[in-house]
Amino acid sequence: MTRDTDAPGTAEPDDDRRSDARAKSVLPDGGAASDDVALDPWGSSAISDYRKLFEQFGIEEFDEVLPEVPSPHYLMRRGVIFGHRDYRPVLEAMCEDEPFAALSGFMPTGDPHIGHKLVFDELIWHQERGGDAYGLIADLEAHSARGLSWDEIDEHARDYLLSLLALGFDPDEGELYRQSANRDVQDLAFELGAEANFSELQAIYGFDGETDVSHMQSVVTQMADILYPQIDEPKPTVIPVGPDQDPHVRFARDLAARTRYFGVTQAYASFEATPAERALLGRAYETLDGEVEDGTVRCVNAAEWLEEADVDDPVDALEGALEKLHAAGKEPLRPRTRFLDRNATDEAFEALIEAVEGEKRVYDAHIDSFELSREEAEELAREVELAHGGYGFRAPSSIYHRFMTGLTGGKMSSSIPASHISLLDDPETGYDKVNSATTAGRETAELQRELGGEADKCPVYELYAYLLAGDDDGFAKEVYDECVGGERLCGDCKEQAARLMREFLEEHQEKRAEAETLLEELDFELESER
Ligand code: TRP
Repeated sequence: MTRDTDAPGTAEPDDDRRSDARAKSVLPDGGAASDDVALDPWGSSAISDYRKLFEQFGIEEFDEVLPEVPSPHYLMRRGVIFGHRDYRPVLEAMCEDEPFAALSGFMPTGDPHIGHKLVFDELIWHQERGGDAYGLIADLEAHSARGLSWDEIDEHARDYLLSLLALGFDPDEGELYRQSANRDVQDLAFELGAEANFSELQAIYGFDGETDVSHMQSVVTQMADILYPQIDEPKPTVIPVGPDQDPHVRFARDLAARTRYFGVTQAYASFEATPAERALLGRAYETLDGEVEDGTVRCVNAAEWLEEADVDDPVDALEGALEKLHAAGKEPLRPRTRFLDRNATDEAFEALIEAVEGEKRVYDAHIDSFELSREEAEELAREVELAHGGYGFRAPSSIYHRFMTGLTGGKMSSSIPASHISLLDDPETGYDKVNSATTAGRETAELQRELGGEADKCPVYELYAYLLAGDDDGFAKEVYDECVGGERLCGDCKEQAARLMREFLEEHQEKRAEAETLLEELDFELESER
């Protein structure tokens, strides 16, 4: 299934205009949005241009994997989920009925609102497709990074859980926990902390000498949250979050790799090469294979070729490769798969040597196999690691959703009641908030009929696309087409949205009330013992 580019969505090109308006507005915390350079998990998360996230941070476009998603969620179909990091392994596991997990966390700093509902829905969707689902309350983070008291945290935590349960999260199949009460997470955080140092936290999060240690601890705790689903068994895991959390995802992917016993890479000779040097060696090998006189490509041949060939690779890669090739002299240049010893115990390293079948060469801190493919080697490395007490973590994946625009323009923020609709809002309040929301309508009804509305810039249209139209693409498209076609005027459109919102809140709150008993039965520490 492919995404219909004409379908109503918020991913359309002229999104720019809306985003510009958003970026210029002054944010609630008093600062102007500056998101060009950094994604800041504790900053004001207005994103001025989602495309930059692809270019600057290497987030991949969700549309590329969409055709592989079995009956995609409407948030995926409508481009609300716009990006991902390495989501394919999760999809493969889902399609092949293999284990996978989905985990996300919530800082209990205020009421859960309709923006959080996106993430609740994403977790539930993965759970319904067979994933182990985890929802956690980031109480340590709320306390250390936002200064909330334990009483406030307990109250909000309850509200998040009730909404998650009301929307369909199955607590018998999945797991709910709070960071402070999960001993395994704390232990894993401690282990992961041994792989991270202050300079990194400084580089990633802008921490400095004034940052409290507890805030740093909440970071390693989040790293542990992200890897927690794999504590008993490695499996593809998706973290559905907003793009402001991407620094955490990247860091968790790094830490996961650092804990591994062995690294697996491609190599061409006994020496170690940087990825850029390796690319040059690979090209030399491809060119010379079958071309040299005695049939064996040697390091010197590659050096000679590289000196002649007019490569425009970075100079230091070229110089590095040449130096290493000259030093290796007559050693044959031969592609191989390399196992690097990272954190392996001696026994694990010995066991791996035994386990590599076929032609191999053993060095001090690496083993070269001439027969195993990269994938076979990865699998073997993980097997040996698991058999010798390692975690064998897979790099966690993520999917990213757009932030909802606030009802008053600007960003939707928990700290500005009029900007959001809380899942706890009285249905009448919800109705009123929608009715007084900003729209992207024209100045007069005449102009609106003539030019059509600008649905792509409209917070009220967003409500339909993200929530009110639910799974009904036909309805969402109708609202969109009628708006841009000039048939739908803002007053009536808001009235309809307001009624739908009232209905949604009524129903959701009934379900929340029903979820109370379920929540009491759960093994969840609802009250902090502090
Ligand atoms: N940092 C997240 C937030 O600000 C909360 C969080 C804690 C989280 N642990 C997590 C999110 C693990 C995703 C996965 O909302």
